[in-house]
Amino acid sequence: MNSDLSSDNYMNHNMVRKNTRDESAINHILQQADAILASSQDEVFSSVSEWQEMMTKYNCAIREIRTKFEVLNDELSIRSNRNPIHGIYSRIKTPRSILDKLHRKGLDITFDNIKTEIHDIAGVRVICDFADDIYEIADMLLKQDDIRLLTYKDYIRAPKENGYRSYHMIVETPVFFSDGKEMMKVEVQLRTIAMDFWASLEHELRYKKNLDKKTLAQISADLLNCANTIADVDNQMMGIKDKLYPKYPDEPS
Ligand code: GTP
Ligand code: MG
Repeated sequence: MNSDLSSDNYMNHNMVRKNTRDESAINHILQQADAILASSQDEVFSSVSEWQEMMTKYNCAIREIRTKFEVLNDELSIRSNRNPIHGIYSRIKTPRSILDKLHRKGLDITFDNIKTEIHDIAGVRVICDFADDIYEIADMLLKQDDIRLLTYKDYIRAPKENGYRSYHMIVETPVFFSDGKEMMKVEVQLRTIAMDFWASLEHELRYKKNLDKKTLAQISADLLNCANTIADVDNQMMGIKDKLYPKYPDEPS
């Protein structure tokens, strides 16, 4: 009995020793895990705050560009008695779409790559009543000395194969923050109301994954037809507008 007890004790004693060893090992692991977690939390927090800071800066850039278009529209509405800009929309690229784009370009996910390789994080879309307003307004923006044109794509003079029309520019503009000035890139898309109407419907088509080949081809052909009709209507509307609002109203026609 005694021996049993002692044996039990012995066993118990061993178990206590083993438990003590386990506990200290577990504590050690827990301490390490805590350290790792704390450091990765720090990293996560610092990444999150760097991300937020970057997005805030792009939002500020959007505000600057929007304001420029609003000012132009206000001024032109007095000069020409009509509002050439029908609407201004803006958006910040979603984190998912930023990461997808980096992945498509085969780039690592770094803040540097996001800033230097992705040019459409800040996007401003300007909807004009008439096609010729697009070029005038783009020109007026580019004449401003704090705007630098990086690239442009004229999908109006050279529409895409599917019929897409719009005028795209990537511009850079300084934004002033507490720690100095930063050059920020903004993608500007200018299109007419009709082009925008077409682009929204065509955009829907990209998300319809369950269409069979024949239907998809038919819809694409219909859309191309509509795009050409729309371009024709845009031209006719421009002609009517020119009669209603002559460029130089004081001159005899
Ligand atoms: P993204 O990788 O989509 O940004 O294109 P990109 O870098 O080649 O630039 P591009 O100037 O061709 O297109 C930029 C944006 O214009 C797109 O993100 C869309 O918003 C719009 N866009 C371009 N092509 C089409 C099109 O065929 N249909 C529609 N609906 N929108 C288009
Ligand atoms: Mg884009």
